Amino acid sequence: MRVTASPGEMTRYSSGALQRGERIGLVPTMGCLHEGHLTLMREGRRRSSVLVASIFVNPTQFGPGEDFARYPRNLERDCAMLQTAAVDVVFAPEPSAMYAPDAQTFVDAGEITSGLCGAHRPGHFRGVTTVVAKLFNIVKPHLAVFGEKDFQQLRAIQRMVRDLNFDLEIIPVPIVREKDGLAMSSRNAYLSSAEREDALALSLALRAAREKHRTGARCVEEIVSAATGVIAGTKGVAIEYVEAVDAETLARHPSLERPILIAIAARVGKTRLIDNVVLQP
Ligand code: PAJ
Repeated sequence: MRVTASPGEMTRYSSGALQRGERIGLVPTMGCLHEGHLTLMREGRRRSSVLVASIFVNPTQFGPGEDFARYPRNLERDCAMLQTAAVDVVFAPEPSAMYAPDAQTFVDAGEITSGLCGAHRPGHFRGVTTVVAKLFNIVKPHLAVFGEKDFQQLRAIQRMVRDLNFDLEIIPVPIVREKDGLAMSSRNAYLSSAEREDALALSLALRAAREKHRTGARCVEEIVSAATGVIAGTKGVAIEYVEAVDAETLARHPSLERPILIAIAARVGKTRLIDNVVLQP
């Protein structure tokens, strides 16, 4: 496995691979890897002859007061995990190699990033789409793998790829959960054992929503309030939002005749967690 911090070296490697007729897959991450990330790697491995994983805690997607400085970083451990996943190249640049001090060009996917997390983290998705566009240009992949855990991020990237004619395929992967239902996340590392218990409220709330939907809810509000009830009943968890939107467009006031996304963001202590489920009509 090759590890490089240099965008130039990464691009030279990819250009060589393209000349040899390889099929390049990319899995972008911010490191502190867990089984969810490794599931993305396996999906990428299956579909490509050269698999690149990027590890970059991207400063432009963190707001002031967010956890950029304390986001967990452990390149050595991450590389050992990526080796077991048969990754060919790890691209782990420093911020200074990714952003010129006077960089002022950004990618903004527009309305699809205005609600849900976008409404609570101004500038976050602009940072995500910008860095992902840069990674696509540096790595030149045929395909890139993203998790449904960050559902709005997935939709924003799909929209960017369509709107800006990126010539690659986006492969979505379902949410990977712990045995008890908690969605895996690098930020789970922040939780104390009591907070870890409280955090279960998110997946339990989604389960309640799914149950309400399955047993014939007549309106979206009923489904949302089933979820909200579970979280509101858990001391130690503060709701940021519980929302139902159209799973394709993320538009509000979705129709029960179409797939709907139930998305939750909540704070458990100081830690902000997200989770979601798509309900099929
Ligand atoms: P990060 O949070 O490290 O996540 C990297 C990828 O792993 C994302 O596509 C995310 O959706 C996926 N992922 C994380 N937890 C998952 C889980 N439990 N199940 C399935 N997939 C999961 O998302 C980012 O980094 C960044 O925003 C990035 C796209 C790398 C841009 O900086």
